[in-house]
Amino acid sequence: VEGEKVNTHIVTLTRFLTEEQVKHKEATGDFTLLCHALQFSFKSIAYYIRRATLVNLTGLAGSSNTTGDEQKKLDVISNDLFIEAMRSSGRCALLVSEEEEDIIFFRDSENARYAVACDPIDGSSNLDAGVSVGTIFGIHKLAEGSKGTKEDILKPGSELLAAGFTMYGASAQLVITMRGGSVNGFTLDNGLGEFILTHPDMRLPAKRSIYSVNEGNSLYWEDNVKNYFNSLKEAPEGGKPYSARYIGSMVADAYRTLLYGGIFAYPADKKSPKGKLRILYECAPMAMVFENAGGQALNSKMERMLEVVPEHIHDKSGIFMGSYDEVEKLGNQITGGA
Ligand code: AHG
Ligand code: MN
Ligand code: MN
Ligand code: MN
Repeated sequence: VEGEKVNTHIVTLTRFLTEEQVKHKEATGDFTLLCHALQFSFKSIAYYIRRATLVNLTGLAGSSNTTGDEQKKLDVISNDLFIEAMRSSGRCALLVSEEEEDIIFFRDSENARYAVACDPIDGSSNLDAGVSVGTIFGIHKLAEGSKGTKEDILKPGSELLAAGFTMYGASAQLVITMRGGSVNGFTLDNGLGEFILTHPDMRLPAKRSIYSVNEGNSLYWEDNVKNYFNSLKEAPEGGKPYSARYIGSMVADAYRTLLYGGIFAYPADKKSPKGKLRILYECAPMAMVFENAGGQALNSKMERMLEVVPEHIHDKSGIFMGSYDEVEKLGNQITGGA
């Protein structure tokens, strides 16, 4: 088009990571290498997901995982891809995955200083319909002098060094944040094979009338949760009720909430008193992204999600996260305040 120019000022994730490393004088390059391994796992998972229907990778693997989910073939393959990426990076000391009962220790990676938690495919019930799914990760640094123990990963989200996710939608979107830093979003350019910085310094809108929850569980919700969601369906004077949006892949629901605002919830309920989503590789990394983008994330007791310390690697929690004002309103309503 006349007057329009091709953008030649492109910041790839590779360049972004290198520039970040240069900014931190004490950096050894280990974290950058770990991120390159993550980046490769996202690219390969995206590739297999996109070809699944063509190469007989849809459907069940015939096994189930520790948290009771039936595993899809792609849950298993993505888990294997992720493990291998972490192993070959030489920088990962231990890994917790949704699809592995126990912690995997990479004892051959002698100088590895990081502990990683991952959900290789989030939203795998959506896979066979070609609906968006994602991969979630959280990175902790080992304690000083530690060679890697379970205490290095059973930590609150507030101590995460970095966290994020990739959503495999119409395009693959990678979102990453570091402790106390901003949130940056990258889009995979399939032609270049590179993630390109397309959403620098993401901030969620302070409010938006959208709620995202599996309302089919409302029979089991506590009354205060029921009352809150019912209140969103009332029209204020001259206004409209909230819109409902629920994909059923947390990564996709969270990504939309990050961009558009609103609230996403998976509350603990009478059927699942501890909630459904898992702390280490679902709740905590997402909570860090939301807080760093100016939002909030709470558990079902209305405590800050990032302060929750899991006892076991697959522990679950209720979660409410989204726009700052909306989560504030929820907190007040549920604890009987304003
Ligand atoms: P996963 O596919 O990693 O097991 O996670 C499933 C989670 C999450 O993606 C989603 O928000 C939620 O389960 C959907 O659960 P419901 O089908 O109960 O709504
Ligand atoms: Mn699962
Ligand atoms: Mn998940
Ligand atoms: Mn999963």
